[in-house]
Amino acid sequence: MAARILDGTTLARARRERLAAEVAEFTRRHGVAPCLAAILVGDNPASRSYVESKARACARAGIRSETFHLAADTPATDVLALVEELNARSDVHGILPQLPMPPQIDPDVVFGRLRPDKDVDGLTPANMGHLALGHPRLAPCTPLGILALIDAAGVEISGSEAVIVGRSNIVGKPTALLLLLRHATVTLCHSRTADLAAHTRRADILVAAIGRARTIRREMVKPGAVVIDVGISRIGGAIVGDVDFEAVREVAGAITPMPGGTGPMTIAMLLENTLAAARWQLEGAA
Ligand SMILES: NC(=O)c1ccc[n+]([C@@H]2O[C@H](COP(=O)([O-])OP(=O)(O)OC[C@H]3O[C@@H](n4cnc5c(N)ncnc54)[C@H](OP(=O)(O)O)[C@@H]3O)[C@@H](O)[C@H]2O)c1
Repeated sequence: MAARILDGTTLARARRERLAAEVAEFTRRHGVAPCLAAILVGDNPASRSYVESKARACARAGIRSETFHLAADTPATDVLALVEELNARSDVHGILPQLPMPPQIDPDVVFGRLRPDKDVDGLTPANMGHLALGHPRLAPCTPLGILALIDAAGVEISGSEAVIVGRSNIVGKPTALLLLLRHATVTLCHSRTADLAAHTRRADILVAAIGRARTIRREMVKPGAVVIDVGISRIGGAIVGDVDFEAVREVAGAITPMPGGTGPMTIAMLLENTLAAARWQLEGAA
């Protein structure tokens, strides 16, 4: 039987509608709307379009947003100065340095300067540390969206075998930590993993965050598994994921489409994190 499609667009819309009501209530209570500041360095077209769609989503949810678009050759010191300025502004509650950054800018240094309570993508050492210690405050948006999609599939995470392919700081690693917190038995695979299929075939929950089109083939998937596709590749003008969707949907129990799965959920979680950051700053809760 073909897999159930985990429609991230619909799920994200429902979450954004709920969030808009919470944002309106927060704004009434504090007399100020939550505000997200995005830092975009350079002209990467994909990054530009992500930042634009995040700004549109903010506006629809009642969140104020500002975009700081810097030239590709901006020195690292100028980016760090902007981070310090935004750290100090009481009307800015979330700061999002859009990745990737040009080579002269080390993203670890940028995130190292960010105030943890404004770190809406959960990538500062402090927020990563809280997550690793099992007490997440602001956690990375894409992994939060992945967990929400798995929950939408209605599977029991506790006790399940979860296999994640990709170990980046922004997706694979934090997804592993979130699944571990929910008591999954977690395997984290990467480019040096010997016999990837031997691991993926054991997975009740399989997350592919590789960035290589259609790497996960039908024979690599356990029948009935929940398959979450994070990868984005552009082939001949079309966007495809890390999963061979048409073949894998024949064996999986539930599967996300690409596009229309993890992408919209990432944006929904960014909005939720912006409200959480504003609450942390104004109400002292995280
Ligand atoms: N849908 C969304 O909202 C969303 C959000 C963020 C990112 N993405 C997309 O997700 C993908 C991954 O992003 P990322 O930032 O995590 O990428 P990344 O930093 O490039 O990490 C890719 C990971 O995949 C592993 N890998 C590469 N080739 C492999 C192979 N053949 N077998 C097994 N593992 C392999 C790498 O292993 P090593 O560590 O050994 O190099 C690395 O850990 C990209 O396509 C990105 O555009 C989507």
